[in-house]
Amino acid sequence: MKRIFFTLFVLVLFSWGQEPISPLPTKVAYHHDKAAIGQRLFSDPILSKDMTVACVSCHSFDFGGADPRSVSLGIQGKKGNIQSPTVYNARYNFKQFWNGRADSLKTQAGGPIHNPVEMAVDSQLVEKRLNADTRYRALFRRVYGTSRITYDQVIDAIVEFEKALVTPNSRFDRFLRGETELTPMEAEGYRRFKAYGCASCHNGINIGGNSFQKMGLFVPYAYDERVEDRFALTKEKRHKNVYKVPTLRNIALTAPYFHDASAKTLEEAVQKMSHHNLGVELNGEDVETIVAFLKALTGETPEVLR
Ligand code: HEC
Ligand code: HEC
Repeated sequence: MKRIFFTLFVLVLFSWGQEPISPLPTKVAYHHDKAAIGQRLFSDPILSKDMTVACVSCHSFDFGGADPRSVSLGIQGKKGNIQSPTVYNARYNFKQFWNGRADSLKTQAGGPIHNPVEMAVDSQLVEKRLNADTRYRALFRRVYGTSRITYDQVIDAIVEFEKALVTPNSRFDRFLRGETELTPMEAEGYRRFKAYGCASCHNGINIGGNSFQKMGLFVPYAYDERVEDRFALTKEKRHKNVYKVPTLRNIALTAPYFHDASAKTLEEAVQKMSHHNLGVELNGEDVETIVAFLKALTGETPEVLR
């Protein structure tokens, strides 16, 4: 029954004849001087209690803005219990975090700074340390025009940097703009991506990031009580294993996959996703073509990092 409704929903969604995915803008607006400070802060362990961990420790630009480890390690090697998602294109997510507990990048950024297993510092310590640093004082004075650095300015600068972390001009975006053709394999993968219903959850400008969905909609998925899913926020039973649908942009760069890092390869992720969330067993050609399409979603390195 669920299956029939779902298929109908997908059919209605695509009967408009419109593409379910839209390209990233090739240029994005952000405050360049603030972003330059944010960029420095993003890679500076000064924001962590024992000065060993920076944002970049768990959001590496060598791995698509994500973490190749199954769970990130915070100060003193403390383990989190969820995989680190990418910071690339995060500005296009409707909420931040796997369970959407932050409404904006601004409210998100305080999360890891204060989290006892991540950076574990309070706002006062951040201010004290940065104000004791003559280089930071000079930088903030020049850009914010104040003699004393405030925690709010620190968050503001980091957010401005994150707004710059956009990866335009993937092969697929260029195809959507009519600038290039997909290879036959990619085109077939895109066709199957839509036909099987992947695009009912992974759509829009971020190919995800715009709704909450259950992991295990058709075939239940293993549940871990400790995980910060929607249930952890709402305490509603139907929200167990419900997460923000992750973006599929740059997905070829951000293994391992899923909140619990249970899929090590893209092939495995596609197969599991289809099994649990569509109730469909894909054959080898399905997986091969869909993965070829997903690889065309890798964009350019954000301008700010070049
Ligand atoms: C110790 C590792 C670690 C550090 C340090 C860290 N993060 Fe994260 N980050 C994570 C994990 C894990 C998540 C997912 C947590 C969750 O959803 O419950 C996350 C989520 C995010 C998200 C949300 C992305 C999305 O799609 O929901 C953003 C944005 C982000 N971090 C930015 C930052 C910034 C900015 C800093 C530095 C101030 C930072 N992170 C420091 C591990 C880390
Ligand atoms: C009913 C909604 C839904 C459908 C349909 C769906 N997905 Fe997903 N997808 C999700 C959710 C939710 C997650 C996060 C699950 C988790 O981490 O436990 C996800 C995660 C993924 C991931 C891993 C992303 C990451 O960063 O870890 C990939 C790859 C993926 N989906 C591809 C696909 C493909 C390909 C299809 C079609 C075969 C598909 N999805 C169909 C909701 C959906």
